[in-house]
This record gives sequence, C-alpha cells and structure tokens, in this order.
Amino acid sequence: MKPTRPFDPTPVITIDGPTASGKGTVAAPVAATLGFHLLDSGALYRLAALASFRYNVDKDDAQALATLIDSLHITFREGCTQLDGLDVSTEIRAEEVGNRASAIAVHPDVRHALIVRQRAFRKRPGLVADGRDMGTVIFPDATLKVFLTASVEVRAARRHKQLMQKGFSANMDNLLRDLRERDARDTSRAAASLKPAADAKTLDTSGLSVDQAVEQIIFWFSEVRV
Ligand code: DC
Repeated sequence: MKPTRPFDPTPVITIDGPTASGKGTVAAPVAATLGFHLLDSGALYRLAALASFRYNVDKDDAQALATLIDSLHITFREGCTQLDGLDVSTEIRAEEVGNRASAIAVHPDVRHALIVRQRAFRKRPGLVADGRDMGTVIFPDATLKVFLTASVEVRAARRHKQLMQKGFSANMDNLLRDLRERDARDTSRAAASLKPAADAKTLDTSGLSVDQAVEQIIFWFSEVRV
C-alpha cells in the first residue's frame, strides 16, 4: 500500500502546459499578486541537464543522473539561480539545455530524484508551481489546477522573442521543429507524461495578454478558495 502524506492546508496553484505556453510568464505575476512562493520546476530539470553536460554524465544513464541530482547544490534567490555556487540563470535558458532537460526527464529515476526538492517549495502563505506534472504528480491535492495551451506557432514566436531578449540567436524554423519534437517527447513518455489533471481548468493563451491570463487564474482561485 502507498504511504499517504499528511494533509497540508498550504494552498497550491499548479500551472502546467507545454513548452512556451506561457507558464512561467503567467506563474510569476500570479505568485506576486497573491504574495505566494514560486516553483519553476522546469528550472530544476534544466539545472540537472546543465550539470549532466558539466560533469559528463550520459543523458541515458538514469541511475548516474539520479545520483548526480542528489549531489547538486541548488539555490534560487531573487531571480538568481545558482548551481554548485555559480550563477547559471542565463545558461539554463539555452535551447540546448532545454532539449537535454526534456531528454533526461523521460527517466523515472530522474523524476523521482527531483520530487522532494519540488515539494519542499510548499510553504506558507502558499505556492504557485509551474511545470508539466505539478497537478498530476507533485501536488495532486492542489487548490487550483490550471493547464495552459497555445498553438505551436504562437509558442514558437514567444520562445523566439524570449531567446532574442536574452541575447541568444534563434531561428523560427528550428524552434518550430524543436517545439514539435519536445511536445511529442513530453507527451508520449511513460513517466508523468504531459497531460492535464482530470480536475484541471484549461486556458488557451493564444489570444490572451499576460494580464488577461493572470486575471483569469486569480479569479478561478478566488472561486475555489471561499
Ligand atoms: O518548462 P521548461 O521548458 O523550462 O522545461 C524544460 C524541460 O524539462 C521540459 O521539456 C520537460 C522537462 N520538465 C518536466 O518533465 N517536468 C516538469 N515538471 C518541468 C519540466
């Protein structure tokens, strides 16, 4: 029998969805508006991916990756993400790192190694957690579960803009191809595949501004909180 976790009354809003659906862009202002903590779970997968490059661990060696993850010293502080004492905030946003993150995320051992670190973010007064499996696996008892979608073209254009702003070079055709590949891998993997939780509310952000998406989520939260 699976051990049950004790009931935690700390509210959690989960925001899941495919790459570049706007999760991070929307999660940050939702957390700021409510004064909640923020978990960017993709950043943890990206940190693990970057570490695998740094320490030469094969992307298919699940056990070695899990051991590596257990040994990593990770800190998130005021917009700065550190890996073993070095600021890697920009480096983890590179497409190469995102693609490696998606590749190592298929291993159940890797996902398992990251569970405790993710759940540790649940602290008062509340948490907004964004990722792929926040509502299905990590916080199945979340107060509100949102699944963001947007067309692949809109997502590629957003990713292009983000990368240019961060000083990376980017090509739309390559981005579209990478997004489609990453969607297919994230959706079809056996472990915690990308899908909405049965009790999630779906929000298509293709035609929405960030403010509109944030407002909708805050409204849904106000409805379930009373
Ligand atoms: O959200 P992102 O692009 O930063 O995530 C990078 C990759 O990490 C993504 O392609 C799949 C993986 N990931 C995951 O499997 N589960 C999560 N909760 C978050 C990210």
